[in-house]
Amino acid sequence: MDVARRTLLRGSGAALAAPALLRRAVAAQAGAPLPIPPVVDADGTGGTLLEAIGGEHEFLAGSRTRVVGFNQPFLGPVLRMRRGHSARLQVRNRLREPITVHWHGLHVPGEVDGGPHSVIEPGASWTPTLEIDQPGGTYWYHSHMHRRTAEHVYWGLAGMLIVDDPAQSGLPSRYGVDDLPLVIQDRAFDARGDLAYSKRGPSLMTGFRGDRILVNGAIEPVATVPPGWVRLRLLNGSNARIYTLFFDDEREFHQIGTDGGLLPRPVSRRRLVLAPGERAEWLVDFSDRGPTRLLSLPDRNLPMGGMMGGMSGAEPPSVNGDGAFGVMQFRVDGQASATITALPASIAGAAPLPDFGEPVRRRRFELDIHGAMMGGMGRGMMGGGAGGGMTINGRSMDMGHINERVPLGQTELWEVRSAMMAHPFHVHATSFQVIRTSAGPVDFAEAGLKDTVLVDDRVELLVRFRHRADERRPFMYHCHILEHEDAGMMGQFTVG
Ligand code: C2O
Ligand code: CU
Ligand code: CU
Repeated sequence: MDVARRTLLRGSGAALAAPALLRRAVAAQAGAPLPIPPVVDADGTGGTLLEAIGGEHEFLAGSRTRVVGFNQPFLGPVLRMRRGHSARLQVRNRLREPITVHWHGLHVPGEVDGGPHSVIEPGASWTPTLEIDQPGGTYWYHSHMHRRTAEHVYWGLAGMLIVDDPAQSGLPSRYGVDDLPLVIQDRAFDARGDLAYSKRGPSLMTGFRGDRILVNGAIEPVATVPPGWVRLRLLNGSNARIYTLFFDDEREFHQIGTDGGLLPRPVSRRRLVLAPGERAEWLVDFSDRGPTRLLSLPDRNLPMGGMMGGMSGAEPPSVNGDGAFGVMQFRVDGQASATITALPASIAGAAPLPDFGEPVRRRRFELDIHGAMMGGMGRGMMGGGAGGGMTINGRSMDMGHINERVPLGQTELWEVRSAMMAHPFHVHATSFQVIRTSAGPVDFAEAGLKDTVLVDDRVELLVRFRHRADERRPFMYHCHILEHEDAGMMGQFTVG
C-alpha cells in the first residue's frame, strides 16, 4: 500500500482481511439495489454534524474495502439546505490527516467556502454558517486539501448537496422514490479488494480512471422506479472520467437542470456529456414499464487524442463491442405511482438569466499539462511528474500567491483555453454563463447556469461575484480532473 493511502486510512479501524478469503470474491457485484444516501437536513440552526471517518465498505461481495466518508464509511449523506435560510455545520475530522470541506457550487464568502486554506486538522472541528441565497439545485461537497484532493475524493470524502427552493414546483420530489440522487464515480480494485489508485505517469497525465462504475457507492446498481416521470439528479463525482450518458434503448430524456439550478424548460436529449464536477437533472418517462440500462461511451479525453499511446488505462467491460459500458439499470415497479403525469412545458422556479450587462474586463486562462509531461520525461519516460508541473497561464498553484484580484459585483468575461486535451474548468462561489465555445454561441435556455464547464479548445463565459474572499481564504479556479488540480492546474483569487 502506498504511503499516501496509509496515512489517510490509519486509525480508521480497518483491519486487513485474510487475502485467501478475499481472492475468490473479487468479481464485480453489479445489480445490487441502488443505495439511497441518508438525508441530513442542514436547514436548522442547531449545527449539523458532518464527521470524516474511516471504515469498511462492501463493494465486492465478501470483501471489505477500506474507505473513508462523512458519517458513514464511503461518501456522505445528501445535505439539504433551503434557499433563504442559513445552514450551520459542524465538520469534525476523525481521520489521521488534515482535510477541508468545500461546498462546490454554493455562493458563499471565502471564509466559509472550504477551499485549501480552510484546513481541518485531525481531531479538530470547523463550524461554518452558510447563508443560502441562490437558485435551488443539485450541488455537492468534497475535501479540497491542497495536493490531496484526488486521494480524498477517491477514498470517499464527497457527497451530494441539494438546495431546496420554495419557488420550484411541479417536479417529482419524493426523495429516493421519484427524485433520485445519482453520484457517478469510477474506481479500480486490487486483487485483495482494496481500492487501487495511482497518480503518477499516465495516471497523472490523463487523470486516474477505474474500470468499475459506482453509483452511490454500488457497482452498476439497479434503481426501482414508478411507472411514470422520474427526476434524476446526476453528479459526476469521478476524479477524471468524462461520461457520455445514454439509455440502451435510446430512449429520450429531458434535461431540466444544470450546475446552477433549473432550466427554463425541459430540453429533449438522447445523450449527455458529463465531465467531473458537473451536475445535470433529468426527467425520464418510465411509463412504458420497460426496464432500461443507462450506458456511457468511453472517455476519449487523452493527451493529444491518445497519440501518446498506452495512456487510456483500464476501461470498464464493454456491453456491445464499441466500448460503451454500463452505469446502472432501471426497473419499474408497477405497484408504485408517479407524482406527475405529463412533462411540464416550462419549469417553475428556473434559474433566471443573469443581468450581466456588458463585461468591464476580460481575463484569459490557459490550462496546460505541458510542464508535467516534460518533467515526467526528464525523469525517465513519464515516470515522475506527480509533484506538479500542470499550469494555468504558465504557473502552478502556489498557496502563497494570489493569481487574480477580482472586484466585487463587476461582470467580467473569462476566456478559458485548453491545449492537448479537454479540461473541466471550475470556479468557486458563483455560477457563470457560458456564452461561446469553439463550436459557436451557447443558448442559455439549453446550457443554464454553470460552475464547471468542459473546455475543449476554447470557452468564453460571463462571471460576477457577490461574495468577498480575502488573501487568507481566497477562492479557487481549477481543472476538476483532480489529478490535474493536485498537480498545480489551479489558481486563487480574491474578491473585494
Ligand atoms: Cu469541486 Cu474547487 O472544487
Ligand atoms: Cu467548487
Ligand atoms: Cu485538466
